[in-house]
Amino acid sequence: MEVEKVIISNDVCTTLNNVLKELKYDRLFLLMDETTNKVCMPVIENVDGISSAVRIVIGATDTHKTLDTLATVWTQMGKGGGTRHSLMVNLGGGMVTDLGGFAASTFKRGIPFVNIPTTLLSMVDASVGGKTGINFNGLKNEIGVFRQPETVIIDTQFLRTLDYQNICSGYAEMLKHGLISDAKTFAELINFNLENVDYVHLADMVGSSVAVKERVVDEDPLERGIRKALNLGHTVGHAFESFALQFEDKPDNKRGIHPVLHGYAVAWGLVCELYLSCVKTGFPVDTMRQTAQFVKDWYGTLPITCDDYPILLELMTHDKKNTAGTINFTLLGGIGDIRINQTAKKEEIYEMLDFFREGL
Ligand code: GLY
Repeated sequence: MEVEKVIISNDVCTTLNNVLKELKYDRLFLLMDETTNKVCMPVIENVDGISSAVRIVIGATDTHKTLDTLATVWTQMGKGGGTRHSLMVNLGGGMVTDLGGFAASTFKRGIPFVNIPTTLLSMVDASVGGKTGINFNGLKNEIGVFRQPETVIIDTQFLRTLDYQNICSGYAEMLKHGLISDAKTFAELINFNLENVDYVHLADMVGSSVAVKERVVDEDPLERGIRKALNLGHTVGHAFESFALQFEDKPDNKRGIHPVLHGYAVAWGLVCELYLSCVKTGFPVDTMRQTAQFVKDWYGTLPITCDDYPILLELMTHDKKNTAGTINFTLLGGIGDIRINQTAKKEEIYEMLDFFREGL
């Protein structure tokens, strides 16, 4: 499987212009959500090719990552004269690059696509590595394919449009990349101030973070083995995310639980899975505590109680990374010491949740 070319650019227009000149296509589609159409599209609208592209705008946020939205995108591609020789440019966060990548991968059995991520989360994670898809039957990313974009163009100027929560959300994936990488990268990440963001420094760290992901994806694009390193924090993180989503339509929710951005759930999941790593694979306790403090300071906590443990365990059991009903974790023996395919007993998982509930 061919792996995409990732370009870190400080001039998205020139880079996109060059990329479009290199790629041959008969029709260009530009997919955006309502927010990126307003905030980011004006930045690239005068690029040759983009000005005459067929524009497709979908609703923003994960609630629109559905089969219905996908069908409207396919319909507009068909009506817009799309052929197997057309090209799609996805301009947006993870929802747009995942759904747009899937729409392109399946239209006429697959057309090439270019991702221009506009959120920190999509720059360092979603837009890179070829995972595409939609949510289905209440399950996140249930339907999708692995297909690499032709090119990913990352211009960190878009980060300046993001609020604190979206910076934190993407930053959790960067922290994960630091943990699976090396002590120096981790030390730089754990000392960063997420409130008064130094964008120049952040842009630099984005480059290193993407390089970590690319290295892993190059080695194992289809997640047969080492790519599972990227799942660190996600077994528990996905359970927290789905759990919080259950409070979506409960405005009188007295517990203060509401749906959270993906990276918040990942940050909390990292704390839990580092705790499990201390217990099971000898991860250093001081580094786990340092990470827990960082997460507590910038992300707060999810106020779970012991009564929530059975449902959280149930959600972990149904994670698509599992095989035969066994919960699969990626743990660490130390920073950069990756241990994939780890399991844990119910008592160990409950002890981990105790630590999270009491310690965060
Ligand atoms: N987000 C994890 C991966 O791309 O494998």
